[in-house]
Amino acid sequence: MTHSYRVAVVGATGYVGQRFVTLLDSHPWFHVDRLFASPRSAGKSYRDAVDGRWRLTTPVPSASAALMVESSEAIEDKLDGIDLVFCAVDMPKDAVRELEERMARTETVVVSNNSAHRATPDVPMVVPEINHEHLALIPAQRRRLGTSHGFIAVKPNCSIQSYVPALSPLLDFGIEQLFVSTYQAISGAGKTFADWPEMVENLIPYIGGEEEKSEVEPLRIWGRFAGDHIVPATKPLISAQCYRVAVQEGHTASVSVSFREKPGRGEILERWAACAGRPQQLELPSAPRQFLHYFDEDNRPQPRLDADLEGGMAVSIGRLREDPILDWKFTCLSHNTLRGAAGGAVLTAELLAAEGYLAR
Ligand SMILES: NC(=O)c1ccc[n+]([C@@H]2O[C@H](COP(=O)([O-])OP(=O)(O)OC[C@H]3O[C@@H](n4cnc5c(N)ncnc54)[C@H](OP(=O)(O)O)[C@@H]3O)[C@@H](O)[C@H]2O)c1
Repeated sequence: MTHSYRVAVVGATGYVGQRFVTLLDSHPWFHVDRLFASPRSAGKSYRDAVDGRWRLTTPVPSASAALMVESSEAIEDKLDGIDLVFCAVDMPKDAVRELEERMARTETVVVSNNSAHRATPDVPMVVPEINHEHLALIPAQRRRLGTSHGFIAVKPNCSIQSYVPALSPLLDFGIEQLFVSTYQAISGAGKTFADWPEMVENLIPYIGGEEEKSEVEPLRIWGRFAGDHIVPATKPLISAQCYRVAVQEGHTASVSVSFREKPGRGEILERWAACAGRPQQLELPSAPRQFLHYFDEDNRPQPRLDADLEGGMAVSIGRLREDPILDWKFTCLSHNTLRGAAGGAVLTAELLAAEGYLAR
């Protein structure tokens, strides 16, 4: 089956929005037709709207540079002919929740990076390799919204996408307790060192709301589909500490974990090497060939060397060793604005297309 969809990006001028516009520039299935942002950017060409605040090392894609940025106010009147919206906006949660529902009610599919709908019972929150079966919530959501086609799907918080992929293939050993510390890049706050100089040579031991999300969202990802909602997993107990560090791209997680039945080192490495999901089976355009990469070197993974692995869509793991208190400890790394944000959302949309959820 061939796929071709007309796409809008909402929040196109932001850090994640710039990633979307760049990733979609050469996408085989998705074609950017409209770009939305706040009234501050509306009425400018995309090139002018991002002038002086383009955060990526690649240039503004020429196909989008001349598109006019529109205000997302009354967006429900502006989505005619659009099949799919990617949304990444910095707005109050209630406003985002309402904006995304208004878009879905126009029979448009919304794939969101925002946290506003991550706890909405009938909204699937998906890491495509791990819990694609949660897409089965979509019919229930359509009934609630009164749509025949439109719905919202979300991706989880960027920080959990380093350690949740590494732990998912080990779930059947019975994960009991998990201590995780995350070392998160400044791009996760939509910043570079130029606009956040206080972060040079610095660490901030607090990221608002992040520890709560890091403790709760994995349990939903590992939860069970129950018709119109997900029953969250009850284990493991998770304790998270989240730090902002002087890194531009790439969130690192340090994990200590205990199991009901402690696996051997060989079993863990085998599970990681064999880990693949629907994106790999379906050979989706943005799917990494190998989802999890284990590094034998003691000093890997490192954000500068490894965050871009497989187009920033693979997860890197290293330093697997016995933990004197719990059972095992190791380090994980994922690219926060690619796998953890725009790339993960594009992969989710590809999965939705391949599974027939975008077909009218
Ligand atoms: N950065 C990451 O690694 C990451 C990862 C996962 C999820 N997220 C989430 O993605 C979202 C965006 O993050 P970001 O880092 O890209 O933020 P950002 O760089 O600050 O960009 C924010 C975007 O929101 C737009 N916006 C602000 N107020 C608006 C309004 N009233 N109406 C319409 N658009 C409005 C901005 O438009 P103007 O340019 O016109 O102001 C801009 O396009 C946030 O919810 C964030 O939590 C970010």
